[in-house]
Amino acid sequence: MTALHIDGCTVAFGGLRAIDDVTLVVPGNTITALIGPNGSGKSTFVNMVSGQIPPSRGRILLHSEPITGMRSDQIVHRGLARTYQVPKVPKELTIGEVISVPLLYARSDRALPGGLRTAADVARYCGLRPPVSTPCGRLSVSDLRRVEIARALACRPNVLLLDESMAGLSLEDANQVMGLVREINSSGVTVVVIEHVMRIIARLCGHAIVLNQGRLLAQGSPRQVLTDPGVREAYLGKGFTL
Ligand SMILES: Nc1ncnc2c1ncn2[C@@H]1O[C@H](COP(=O)(O)OP(=O)(O)OP(=O)(O)O)[C@@H](O)[C@H]1O
Ligand SMILES: [Mg+2]
Repeated sequence: MTALHIDGCTVAFGGLRAIDDVTLVVPGNTITALIGPNGSGKSTFVNMVSGQIPPSRGRILLHSEPITGMRSDQIVHRGLARTYQVPKVPKELTIGEVISVPLLYARSDRALPGGLRTAADVARYCGLRPPVSTPCGRLSVSDLRRVEIARALACRPNVLLLDESMAGLSLEDANQVMGLVREINSSGVTVVVIEHVMRIIARLCGHAIVLNQGRLLAQGSPRQVLTDPGVREAYLGKGFTL
């Protein structure tokens, strides 16, 4: 089943089409990679799908239901959650407070993975070691990225968009987050991963979508898109090997 269907969508900032007549699908229950050069429209895609910046043209279907033009909170209630490329976590709030807001207010008839119930459970599941009473202003980048994932997971999504959740992490941290993404996916959540490290894409993802200058450049298996001549020319470089 298709989790997300983007049908002829455009988002323009003045004369710049950050998303330019894009049609694509995200297959259900996959880990799908969304890749492309800097400025190709990946974060705008997340903003568009999650309702922050609605498309000026086109339709967005979540599990075959139209969500185009809905507010972000309505889209969250329908089962789609996202993280931010630059973590957007209020410094003065604690880890527990940040996770508790969606735990209390997001739709509750979907279950959290693995019998998780409390904010502390979600924090632990996401690999956060500091106590939930720790203010977010004291956290490392790596932990802020985990708080972003924990907050999104606490929305009980069935589609989760992760905007560069592994960027700037050590190899060990990135491997742990990869394990977490796999576990979230095995609990029945379709995950879209934006990532620039192609080894991670090849190891983690079953499907890949490539944007370039706001347009869809390729979609298919990671192997198909990473060997596509157009993708190599626009993004990876001709000498690219995995
Ligand atoms: N709010 C905005 N106002 C004006 N222009 C914007 C806005 N958001 C994004 N853009 C522009 O839209 C284009 C796509 O940006 P976007 O952030 O979606 O790219 P990206 O693929 O996420 O890049 P990166 O890999 O660097 O994160 C860029 O040219 C960017 O400058
Ligand atoms: Mg981005």
